[in-house]
Amino acid sequence: MVSIRALPKIWLNGRFVPWDEAKIHVLTHGLHYGYAIFEGIRCHGTSSGPAVFRLRDHFDRFQNSAKIYRMRLPYDRGTLERATLDLVRENGVSDAYLRPIAYSGYGEMGIDPTKSPIEVAVAMWEWGAYLGEEGVRRGVRATVSSWVRIDSRMLPPQAKCAANYANSALAKMEATSGGYDEAILLNAAGMVAEGPGENIFRVKNGVVSTPPASSGILRGISRDTVIRFVKDEGLEFQRTDFTREELFTADELFYSGTAAGITPIREVDGRSIGSGEYPITRRLQERYDVAIHGRSERYSGWLTYVDGPRPRA
Ligand SMILES: Cc1ncc(COP(=O)(O)O)c(C=O)c1O
Repeated sequence: MVSIRALPKIWLNGRFVPWDEAKIHVLTHGLHYGYAIFEGIRCHGTSSGPAVFRLRDHFDRFQNSAKIYRMRLPYDRGTLERATLDLVRENGVSDAYLRPIAYSGYGEMGIDPTKSPIEVAVAMWEWGAYLGEEGVRRGVRATVSSWVRIDSRMLPPQAKCAANYANSALAKMEATSGGYDEAILLNAAGMVAEGPGENIFRVKNGVVSTPPASSGILRGISRDTVIRFVKDEGLEFQRTDFTREELFTADELFYSGTAAGITPIREVDGRSIGSGEYPITRRLQERYDVAIHGRSERYSGWLTYVDGPRPRA
């Protein structure tokens, strides 16, 4: 079952190859041992052509993930950023999700990844809101997972490593098989951490809060975007831990993520959240929409136009 539409090209190890030819060997090291780091980026249509949102920040995080995992990337960031922009042009699609990935390739088997070559690809595909358009409008139903979020003594959550997503997949499957749309993971201290592929925000009495980086989360770029919007809205903001029961008593809850956008949570484990209206979440969603589509001068620094100046190394 393939639900994504093939686009003409994928960038693989320095060149554009036809979508169907972007293949790897079954003994690719990263496939067996999870040694792969990746990014999730979005590109949107604007009145000046397609623009990638927070390209530099995504490649900063990509480089940080590589550093944490002692992975030497065979391409500098300028090359990767240009490849990403060129890929959008090659494929002729404005609204898409972009996936740079670096992994230990086909070399030697055994856990030590340093014996295998590092390969790099950038792929893109058309992807609507990860938790559904209806979820963005009406909110999703979430459950607190029995799976505990990984922490930095086990697998560093701040590195966007493929291995981390085994933990996310367990939580996601538990949620969906129980009839929910998405999971919320607690950390080893029992405090709220994040979703399997999203950060989480809480609104209570007009104050917007999100767990700190030390709670064992990925430092989301959308999380950072939302924090800026909260401040620009003149709302009070706190980076603070909160408990499971503080989820239930929130006025509003929402997920943030490149794939999910800003998606309200309308229910957690059978408790309706707030009044079912999301006045603050809606204001943040509107700002997000304006920013990613290049309709605000204030946030224009976050956009890299595909047909604009080429990024340097
Ligand atoms: C575990 C996890 N948390 C949070 C996020 C949100 O991060 P971002 O806003 O950078 O997409 C993601 C998505 O990449 C994720 O996988």
